[in-house]
Amino acid sequence: MNILIIYAHPSKKSYTFQVLERLKSAILKQNWNLEISDLYASNFESDMSEEEYEREGFAKLDLPIAEDVLAEHKKIENADCLIFLYPVWWSDCPAKLKGWFDRVYSVGYAYGQTESFPKMKTIPHGIAICTAGHPNHFLDEIGIAQSMEKIMLEDRLGKRFENKEMLILGGTLELEKVMENHFLQIEKIVSNLSN
Ligand SMILES: Cc1cc2nc3c(=O)[nH]c(=O)nc-3n(C[C@H](O)[C@H](O)[C@H](O)COP(=O)(O)O)c2cc1C
Repeated sequence: MNILIIYAHPSKKSYTFQVLERLKSAILKQNWNLEISDLYASNFESDMSEEEYEREGFAKLDLPIAEDVLAEHKKIENADCLIFLYPVWWSDCPAKLKGWFDRVYSVGYAYGQTESFPKMKTIPHGIAICTAGHPNHFLDEIGIAQSMEKIMLEDRLGKRFENKEMLILGGTLELEKVMENHFLQIEKIVSNLSN
């Protein structure tokens, strides 16, 4: 299995980085191929340029697609599973990752497809994993868990993936209470992929 992790956190001192390390070792234990798009480390351009907007906004498929976006398309085409890993910032992913969707989900490729343009393949597995300061029960109570799941799973992953799952690793303000369980959930989500 070829796994692509789209990772969005700026700091190696973060808990999200520890989650990345756990995830990597669980994946490598399975002997799968792993590629990581580390959006902050690679300084991924998350702002859409005026020319890119013209292509997207007016569906001008003949306008060029930027090289960095084409490189992401290539990684996607090679993957059997995409895992998005990020911290929850203001009830959503960091702007860096939002910008990845804005630019990499280009028209003709990820939506607005036509016969004459190469379209994104349907990927067997799509997983979103986010860390959150609030505990899961609170995110459920205030409806934020459901809205994050709706946007991530139904819109951003959408019909582009056959099997979709979202894991909210909440309660990171009191890490000692949740960490062990989080790491178990990570192991489980990876081992479920092999079934
Ligand atoms: C700018 C910012 C916004 C945040 N917004 C939220 C939020 O809306 N909901 C939430 O549960 N936690 C929020 N948090 C807490 C992060 O989700 C938490 O820091 C993350 O789970 C784990 O931290 P780390 O990976 O940065 O160490 C926010 C943190 C930052 C820095």
